[in-house]
Amino acid sequence: MNYYFITGSSKGLGKSLTELLLEDENNFVYGIARTSSIKHERYIHTNMDLSNLDEVENYLFPELNNVNRIILVNNAGMVGDVNRVGKIDNKKIIDCYNLNLISPVILINNFISKYTSLSCEKMVLNISSGAGRTPIDGWNVYCSTKAGIDMFSQVLKEEAKIDNSNVTVLSLAPGIIDTDMQVQIREAKESAFSSIEKFIEYKKDGDLTLPDVTAKQVYRFITEKDLSTNVLCSVRDLSE
Ligand SMILES: NC(=O)c1ccc[n+]([C@@H]2O[C@H](COP(=O)([O-])OP(=O)(O)OC[C@H]3O[C@@H](n4cnc5c(N)ncnc54)[C@H](OP(=O)(O)O)[C@@H]3O)[C@@H](O)[C@H]2O)c1
Repeated sequence: MNYYFITGSSKGLGKSLTELLLEDENNFVYGIARTSSIKHERYIHTNMDLSNLDEVENYLFPELNNVNRIILVNNAGMVGDVNRVGKIDNKKIIDCYNLNLISPVILINNFISKYTSLSCEKMVLNISSGAGRTPIDGWNVYCSTKAGIDMFSQVLKEEAKIDNSNVTVLSLAPGIIDTDMQVQIREAKESAFSSIEKFIEYKKDGDLTLPDVTAKQVYRFITEKDLSTNVLCSVRDLSE
């Protein structure tokens, strides 16, 4: 059996990916989000606020039997308060770093610790963003959380190589997806975000990818071994 742990499995990309994985009877998914929208015999949901680090620290990865692969997908994320530095809501700064960066790091730490003695292949797939690799005004906190997860992923890969630990690591930018996150981006104040018109145009022009389509692209990075030899990758690297 392949066991997946997916954060943000209730909607958007995480929900589409979970539903796609559940089509294969060899896959079992543990989902984590504040709300639940999937019922399936091979799906177990944990209600958790991943901005609350006490809750994250207390999450216990289960004992697993008959394991082929174990995969942790850190997908839950938010763009946070789109604003100029000096005007950002401090509570939202903390929530955004907790959700996008610190909770994935704690989950990875506990995931590696829990399953290190299992000889099966393990994978950590972090859903990053092009915004972690290019500065975008108004998204200071979001960009820096994604840059942080990119670097954490690269260091993890170095450690996995040294330790020969059978852990694959990717930090994957998923492109621009038609989800609630994009709704929130389009609701930003123009004075806080100079690219807002561009994002409104993306939606009008049909340039946003449906989450089910992006999920299929993400699935390829999970299942096609060595599709990306670089830790930092993007669905835009796919040729077809
Ligand atoms: N959409 C894009 O264009 C785009 C572009 C680049 C990267 N990304 C990245 O792709 C990932 C998925 O984004 P999406 O567009 O699918 O977003 P979305 O539709 O807003 O979904 C976000 C998911 O994260 C969960 N989540 C949010 N806050 C949470 C919290 N405090 N605790 C637990 N779960 C929480 C949500 O579940 P609940 O509300 O039920 O908790 C939901 O399942 C994110 O990491 C995002 O940064 C998205």
